[in-house]
Amino acid sequence: MTMKNAAADATNRTLRIPPRIAVFASGAGTNFQALVEAVRAGNLDAEITLLVCDRPDAPALERAHELEVQTAVFEPKRYDSREQYEQDVLSKLRAQQIEWVVLAGYMRLVTSVLLEAYGGRMVNIHPSLLPAFPGLHAVRQALEYGVKITGATVHLVDEGMDTGPIVAQQVIDIRPEDTLETLAERIQAVEHELYPRAIQSLMQSLTHC
Ligand code: GAR
Repeated sequence: MTMKNAAADATNRTLRIPPRIAVFASGAGTNFQALVEAVRAGNLDAEITLLVCDRPDAPALERAHELEVQTAVFEPKRYDSREQYEQDVLSKLRAQQIEWVVLAGYMRLVTSVLLEAYGGRMVNIHPSLLPAFPGLHAVRQALEYGVKITGATVHLVDEGMDTGPIVAQQVIDIRPEDTLETLAERIQAVEHELYPRAIQSLMQSLTHC
C-alpha cells in the first residue's frame, strides 16, 4: 500500500467509512454474489464497488449487472506482459479509491504490480485445506487422493499459487457417496459463509491495531 493510500485508509477508519472493495473473478461469480449479499445483509462492513474480470464471457459479469455493481473487463491477451495488464487494472483501482482486493475464483497469479499496491490487503479463497491441493481442480484432487476431510481456505495473497498466510479455514467431511458435484457444492456453500466472515474479521483486526 502506498503512503497516500495508507493515510486515506487511516482517515477512513477514524471516520468509520466502510472500506471500498474490488472483487476479481474469472468464472461463475457465486462467491462474488455471496459477498455482495453479505454487505447488503449487514454482515460485512464494506462497500463492493467494482467487479474486475479477466474474461469478457464470465458469468460473474451478468451477476454484477443484476446486482448493480460496476464492472471492468481487462483481457490479459491484449497486453504484452502481465505487468502491463496489471498496471491498467491498478489505474482503475486507484481511480475508484479501492482499498481491498478480494480474489474470488480469479484464475491467475498476481505480479509485484498489484502486490506492491495491495500487499496485506489482498485475499483469496481456495476450495481445499491449504497447503493441500493448490492450483486447478482442488476438489477433484482431494477426491482422487482419497482424503477424508477437505474444506476451504482464505489466505492473504502473495506471488505464489494459493500460497500466502492463512486467515481462516473451515473443514468438511468427505462422505463415501460424494461425487465431484456433491462435494463441490458443499464446499461452495462453506465458502459463501466463510469468505465474508473472514474478511470482516481481518478488516476489524486491522482497525484495532
Ligand atoms: C471457488 O470455489 C474458489 O474457491 C475457486 O474458484 C471457485 C470460484 O467459484 N478458486 C480457486 O480454485 C483458486 N485457486 P465462483 O466463481 O462461483 O465464486
